[in-house]
Amino acid sequence: MWDIIHKFFNKVKDKGDLEKVILEIKKGQIPDHVAIIMDGNGRWAKKRGLPRTAGHQAGVKTLKEVINLSKQIGVGYITAYAFSTENWKRPKQEVDFLMSLFERVFLDELDNFNKEGVKINIIGYKDRLPKAVREKVKDVMEITKDNKEIVVNIALDYGSRAEIIEMVKEVSDDIINNKLSVNDIDEELISNKLYTTEQPDPDLLIRPGGEKRISNFLLWQIAYAEIYFSDTYWPDFDTEIFLEAIIDYQKRERRFGGLKKSR
Ligand code: IPE
Ligand code: IPE
Ligand code: MG
Repeated sequence: MWDIIHKFFNKVKDKGDLEKVILEIKKGQIPDHVAIIMDGNGRWAKKRGLPRTAGHQAGVKTLKEVINLSKQIGVGYITAYAFSTENWKRPKQEVDFLMSLFERVFLDELDNFNKEGVKINIIGYKDRLPKAVREKVKDVMEITKDNKEIVVNIALDYGSRAEIIEMVKEVSDDIINNKLSVNDIDEELISNKLYTTEQPDPDLLIRPGGEKRISNFLLWQIAYAEIYFSDTYWPDFDTEIFLEAIIDYQKRERRFGGLKKSR
């Protein structure tokens, strides 16, 4: 089957063929949850002699395309890393630009999210974001909450260690207040105290931009995720590369510590 897909894939340029590729892909295993570290915006811009902020702006289009395509192939959840707890270390001008970009995107894309059935869920510390962004976060989550086609978690001021610390505090509080006993603590309980509560763990983690690291993203949740690295910078990460990542995922054998099925 992979040969057929690859043959189609080489001819993906026109729309008709893309649809055939999608049909082929849908015959295989589709990751229910795809996590993406949207990296390489700054280098993309630098390569073009543009300010880093132009790279962030260009990255928005890629995310929209990836959401759209994910919906078409039947991905249920996307978690996109947009701003880490460590990204506050960047120059104020870049941080300010990013904050106003998030604000603008949540406002401008709201109708589109509703039209496409996209439920937006912002994960991360919310209280450190500028007030205007916090308000848009609240609005976009409230207004899209009943959308059913796909859930898109946007990780904003997100750090996995911070998330784990929050979880530990919450569990400790519940124990002190006798709402929980120590013996109740298990994997399911911990998972449901994280920002991704009630969601399946990511099946596939994609990192464009050439770096081969996790950068404090979903450390608990990616325990058994398949990882796909790409050298392409996020603004250039197009439909074809995304589908290539999905095809690569379909060829993997997930064992979860067990043995191959045929043995
Ligand atoms: C990712 O792109 C976006 C954010 C971290 C906000 P970068 O800004 O990290 O781009 P590079 O890695 O410097 O190219
Ligand atoms: C990870 O990218 C965070 C986001 C994509 C939002 P970084 O560019 O911040 O990660 P490092 O510094 O290369 O590890
Ligand atoms: Mg980076």
